[in-house]
Amino acid sequence: MPIEDYKIERAQAEDAVAMLKLWQGIPGLGLGQGDDEEALRIFIKRNPSTCLVIRDKGSLIGTVLAGFDGRRGYIYHLAVHQDYQGRGYGKALLNRAMKELQALGAMKIHLFVLRDNPAAAAFYRQQGWQTRHDIQVFSWDAGR
Ligand SMILES: CC(C)(COP(=O)(O)OP(=O)(O)OC[C@H]1O[C@@H](n2cnc3c(N)ncnc32)[C@H](O)[C@@H]1OP(=O)(O)O)[C@@H](O)C(=O)NCCC(=O)NCCS
Repeated sequence: MPIEDYKIERAQAEDAVAMLKLWQGIPGLGLGQGDDEEALRIFIKRNPSTCLVIRDKGSLIGTVLAGFDGRRGYIYHLAVHQDYQGRGYGKALLNRAMKELQALGAMKIHLFVLRDNPAAAAFYRQQGWQTRHDIQVFSWDAGR
């Protein structure tokens, strides 16, 4: 699909299963708690304008899940099918998610990149994002 033909759409709760299938085939994407169909459906419904997809002939080829918590925006699972990487889809999804988050009032946006995914870190740096050295991430896992 030529880049000029793509259309970014809002994700639908019904996309959850296809999203999981897409992500499972993309190396580098860290899947974890919250990456099951029910949790994804809830996230998409709570964040209708900031969960976005690109399709080619009906199949998902790119996703981004973003959410605004009233203070900060967060971006998760920016992912492009391996056969479609390097054609501008990732950048387009990221920029649109940022625009939609800003429209909701998120002036600052955070995202997490696993340390064993230097390619994603390089991509975000190339897009002008800054690595934070002044913050440690702490997590509480109620399910452990
Ligand atoms: C990271 C990812 C979303 C990028 O999407 P993409 O469609 O391949 O990237 P694009 O074609 O939109 O690239 C946009 C720009 O970033 C640059 N870029 C892409 N990958 C890069 C990398 N690994 N390092 C540095 N720059 C990179 C491109 O050269 C392009 O530059 P330009 O704007 O000057 O032309 C995609 O590679 C992917 O799905 N990776 C696996 C999943 C993943 O790790 N996601 C992030 C989870 S935190």
